[in-house]
Amino acid sequence: MKKKFTRNSAAFIGAALLMSVCSINVNAQTAAETAKMNAYVTGLMKKMTVDEKIGQLNLVTGGMAITGSVTNNGIGDGVKNGTIGGIFGLYGVAEVRKMQEAAVKGSRLHIPLIFGLDVIHGHRTIFPIPLGMSATWDLDLIKQSARIAAKEATAEGLNWVFSPMVDIARDARWGRISEGSGEDPYLGGRIAAAMVHGYQGTSLKNTDAVMACVKHFALYGAAEAGREYNTVDMSRLAMYNYYLPPYKAAVDAGVGSIMSSFNVVDGVPSTVNKWLLTDLLRKQWGFKGFVVSDYTSLNEVTNHGLGDLKTVSARAINAGLDMDMVGEGYLKTLKKSLQEKKVDMADIDRACRLILEAKYKLGLFDNPYKSLDAAREKSDIMTVANRVAARSAAEHSFVLLKNDNQILPLKKSGGSIALVGPLANNKRDMLGTWVIGGEWEKSVSVMEGIERVVGDKVKINYAKGSNITDDTTFIKRLNFGPGMVSLDKESPEDMIEDAVKAAKRSDIIVAVVGESQSMSGESSSRSDISIPESQQKMLRELAKLHKPMVLVLFNGRPLTLQWENDNATAILDVWAPGTEAGNAIANVLFGNYNPSGKLTTTFPRSVGQIPLYYNHLNTGRPYTNGPTKFKSNYLDIDNSPLYPFGYGLSYTKFQYSNLKLSKTNLKGNETLTATVTVSNTGSYTGEETVQLYIGDPEASISRPVKELKDFKKITLQVGQKKDVSFTITPDKLKFFNSDLRYDWEPGKFIIEVGTNSDITESATVNWMK
Ligand code: BGC
Repeated sequence: MKKKFTRNSAAFIGAALLMSVCSINVNAQTAAETAKMNAYVTGLMKKMTVDEKIGQLNLVTGGMAITGSVTNNGIGDGVKNGTIGGIFGLYGVAEVRKMQEAAVKGSRLHIPLIFGLDVIHGHRTIFPIPLGMSATWDLDLIKQSARIAAKEATAEGLNWVFSPMVDIARDARWGRISEGSGEDPYLGGRIAAAMVHGYQGTSLKNTDAVMACVKHFALYGAAEAGREYNTVDMSRLAMYNYYLPPYKAAVDAGVGSIMSSFNVVDGVPSTVNKWLLTDLLRKQWGFKGFVVSDYTSLNEVTNHGLGDLKTVSARAINAGLDMDMVGEGYLKTLKKSLQEKKVDMADIDRACRLILEAKYKLGLFDNPYKSLDAAREKSDIMTVANRVAARSAAEHSFVLLKNDNQILPLKKSGGSIALVGPLANNKRDMLGTWVIGGEWEKSVSVMEGIERVVGDKVKINYAKGSNITDDTTFIKRLNFGPGMVSLDKESPEDMIEDAVKAAKRSDIIVAVVGESQSMSGESSSRSDISIPESQQKMLRELAKLHKPMVLVLFNGRPLTLQWENDNATAILDVWAPGTEAGNAIANVLFGNYNPSGKLTTTFPRSVGQIPLYYNHLNTGRPYTNGPTKFKSNYLDIDNSPLYPFGYGLSYTKFQYSNLKLSKTNLKGNETLTATVTVSNTGSYTGEETVQLYIGDPEASISRPVKELKDFKKITLQVGQKKDVSFTITPDKLKFFNSDLRYDWEPGKFIIEVGTNSDITESATVNWMK
């Protein structure tokens, strides 16, 4: 049995500071720089009135992107009066310059504005949705995508982006699972840090650097029933061990700002939650940047039942919320609350200081127009290099879920293909959710991509085959913008008929199906996560022809794909690949790139299994050898997922063998090396992500059956083999115990290395203190 720990808050705080998943702050200031900044900001604040200070806390929308029913009016006057600290949802050098000049020339103290936007997976050149990016398991590539987004965003005058979103999600019903990196805290943390580094670059003062804003703090991905904006209720153990690490990793990487979430944490909405925003974030984690609310989330605290706008605004400033997005709660009520002594001047000063510091760190006081360069706006956006990077990212993000009879890659010449499905000749849905600067007209459709790769060497027989959905109520809910989802003029029956005809004339069917752009993302929860019925009907008819059928699957979340898995010959999951969608898809379908993506979320067999995730706890009655009474299983379905976390096939085959541990009995701070041999036994060069998991079956609390602790991406030529080694130190064994103390406990550990979370080579060690 392992030793029990007693509460020791000093040790806990120290350990919590260490609980990082390897992220260094490349933007850290020297002591001299901090002193200089403090002196500057102090000097400026001495001149500011209370109104001007409160003005800095007010973030308004410029109206180019809104996600709520409220917008701001009279922005121009507010900027001159000093009642606005920043604007988001407004970009373009001319527009930004107009507002910045109004602030710098027109306001009493000439304080520059900060300009933000939801740049989520690229600004103009759109990369795959974040869930797709995470499936690359390629941190350099992810960082590079953020760098390119920062370059494009700054070329249009922006200096702040509302990304990365690092909310861990175990529930595919939640539409925003598409915006994050999946279910794993370790991988999520590594990606969070890579993105912060990519956005912020080597110095925030650079003209091509943006300040990142990690969101949504905290636990937003655990909304009950996967319903958007819903209640979150979880133990501190679950928070610290599974949900908080990615936010912490972003803080350690030096993220400049944090956005509070819409949900409650321990019953208190995040936006006014002092434990979260001050005790945890600032005191335990040492966060030095500023916290902004989500869109009107401060006003919404009233709906959570905590009082009127004045009450909740006072509570928010006291809790540690610095900037108020859109709702103007601070602007309208803080001064009154100050007069009534419900708010301390010190709290308003703190918030104002942090926002001014952010502007200082960005170099805006030195040059408020630093990235307002009309030449760059022309030269740096949607460049060929950016598109090539987006294409490569997309290729790396695709996950091959099934490939019977090695049907993929397809031959580049000879024969015929029936290209069917509502997403086959479609540009709009290539981009996925959150693409404010993205121009769908410039994206490449699957049809265009295929034509570019095969020219006239393969006969393509196209038919749309079905609507995205035939359900008009669903369509109404999906359409928040014009022309998003519509019904075709042709009847559903005739469309299917066309697809069947095209398939009859062809050797192979390639069906491009799945979710449209607005089916995932914010406010896009679904209770049924299958491919819409209209498309399933088409697939069922096509399956009757018994021809090889390849599904190219668009999805912003794991879908339930049991029928598709049983009936399609191959399935290539392409998420929403971005601007270069069609080119990337064609390159993979025809073998110009061998797919290497791996799932970062578990795909359930049925929505009834949710939440289903690989790093679950064991039960007292674990499920073994098939369903039976009085075990933890269902009567009507297996416990296992359809596709596990970490899963993804390649056109080649990788064989794992010979897991060797450098020792099996260890003590204290010794280091363990685990080495496995990976061989390419197939007939293509391929990339493989080798994954290290550790299980901790003897602990003071029940621990996950296994947890991802490291991974390495390797390339193997045909016939090549490589020894892949992982170095394991006791740090990798640490977790938060019942006393929230972060440490490792001696005993037995299971070391697993494999191609996914389910198929691994494993060995056991004893590690004593
Ligand atoms: C979303 C945020 C986003 C904000 C600003 C909100 O509705 O939850 O993720 O950054 O709007 O657009």
